[in-house]
Amino acid sequence: MDPTPEHILLFQKMILTWYTKNKRDLPWRKTRDPYKIFISEVMSQQTQLTRVVPKYDAWLKRFPTVYELAHAPVSEVLKFWSGLGYNRRALNLQKAAKVIVGEYKGEFPHQVEELKKLPGIGKYTASSVACFAFNEQIPVIDTNIRKVITHEFFKGELPAEKIIEDVAGKILPKGKAYEWNQALMDYSSLILKDKKIPVPKQSHFLSSNRYYRGQTIKLLLKVSAISITGLWDFFDERNPIERRRLEEILLAMQKDGLIRIKKDKISLPRG
Ligand code: ADE
Repeated sequence: MDPTPEHILLFQKMILTWYTKNKRDLPWRKTRDPYKIFISEVMSQQTQLTRVVPKYDAWLKRFPTVYELAHAPVSEVLKFWSGLGYNRRALNLQKAAKVIVGEYKGEFPHQVEELKKLPGIGKYTASSVACFAFNEQIPVIDTNIRKVITHEFFKGELPAEKIIEDVAGKILPKGKAYEWNQALMDYSSLILKDKKIPVPKQSHFLSSNRYYRGQTIKLLLKVSAISITGLWDFFDERNPIERRRLEEILLAMQKDGLIRIKKDKISLPRG
């Protein structure tokens, strides 16, 4: 059901008031530099912020701009990433940096759709850079924000992603997307965690083969073809999976006639 306008207004007021008094002092909130925001957002995926802050500071000392990152040896990049996990994210950061230097004259694109074309940048990272660096008035949806929306508007029962996106768009206060998205992240990780409010059980389904099969088909209906690495990247932001396991799932899907795999390219069967 749609949230009522009254509910939306009250919720906006509550969150923004709470945030004014309780916002966390995080280094990436003091900048609008897209490169720095990009680094902070990729580092924050699945890593506690207390562990991210020192890594973020050290990274920016060694690679202060997209140019130093693009030109650094891979071993340095991995060294400064160590402790954050998912090394491929560090390699993708550098790949993206190389594209920005090589194809965009060192300037990050502003639009979500352009940002999403960069290697390893999915919907979450693209939206967070567009909103936090360029003040695009869009919702940014991560696990924390999904949790707040589910708790506030769906009594803890996780709805389909499309519905979450729809509500996230409807509750966005006009002109305040930056503050709002940051506020929801803090509220979720400080309040919902402290109060031990039960969060929807999603882990079982989200780690199932059925989930990966379903998402793969859904994506192919949109993009018609994708490389295995592209698909692996797609899952990385939302629900990381080991490469070997993903390949096994894809082979099974091919056997079932659901997809075709040709030279690392996956597509739906013709006809
Ligand atoms: N988690 C990911 N990005 C964040 C941000 N900008 N602020 C707080 N928590 C976050």
